[in-house]
Amino acid sequence: MTLDIRPLHPLFAAEVHGFDFSAPPERMDMDAVRAAARRHGVLVFRNATPPTDEQHIAFSKLLGPIEQGNIIKVTGFDRRRVRYMELVDVGNIDPDGNIFPADHRRMLFRKGDRLWHADMSFMENRATYSMLVGHEIPPEGGDTEFADMRAVFDELPPEMQRLAESLTVEHSIWRSRTLAGFPEPTEEELASRPPVRHPLVNVQAGSGRKSLYIASHASHVVGWPLELGRGLLAELTRFATQPKFVYRHQWRPGDMLMWDNLSTLHRATEFEDSKYRRDMRRTTCREREIAAADGGYA
Ligand code: OGA
Ligand code: MN
Repeated sequence: MTLDIRPLHPLFAAEVHGFDFSAPPERMDMDAVRAAARRHGVLVFRNATPPTDEQHIAFSKLLGPIEQGNIIKVTGFDRRRVRYMELVDVGNIDPDGNIFPADHRRMLFRKGDRLWHADMSFMENRATYSMLVGHEIPPEGGDTEFADMRAVFDELPPEMQRLAESLTVEHSIWRSRTLAGFPEPTEEELASRPPVRHPLVNVQAGSGRKSLYIASHASHVVGWPLELGRGLLAELTRFATQPKFVYRHQWRPGDMLMWDNLSTLHRATEFEDSKYRRDMRRTTCREREIAAADGGYA
């Protein structure tokens, strides 16, 4: 399987041609996929039909330990639509196949995806790659945007780079949900996912390139007055998401996008989510083997 890789943006993101998700795993050139992902940060695979859930999961397992099960409890949401625990359902379809009511807690929860974020930065065991497959795409809107956090780091003034390298940030899922207008978390929700800390700057294994590890789950800077830290994080996020750093993906049914959460940020964009169906399913790889305590919610 020889891959043909075509850049989509001056800084990052590339389209991969010649990859067959139906091939047996031993025929997949995963070294080439890994090298391309490391280099480009976001890979787009266009497929005439979406990889099946089984193919999606099998491909993801070749790239690292993958998430199994919901890692957050959303009160009142206890029935899954997709059968496999490895898949995160990020669409707007309920288990009966209808669009969720606009005021459903699960619908409000997913609105948080519209803020810039790195998947699962609120977990101690960070997410490396995410693989998102588009099964049903709304006729308008619902693009996904990505920002190249390595190019961002390279363009920061040297004194800001030095400051950033000295800082640690606290991340919490409830910080991003609050920002997105999700109601006050319940006790059971809060207990299901407490905050964690990560260095503000990530160094990419292999290349040594540095990136900012920030955005909406990032709550505050450890050891700084709350509002001062929040101000710095907001300023860095504004800098990082300038149009020159952003690739915007317009989905077609069948697309599989793979991105490196340690080198890029992403966000969903608006669409008429009470009118149009959007069926998107994600797998997520993690840095290390996943402890049992990381999962297990409906
Ligand atoms: C995700 C996500 C964005 C989108 O699946 O992690 O943020 O456009 N998705 O659905
Ligand atoms: Mn996401």
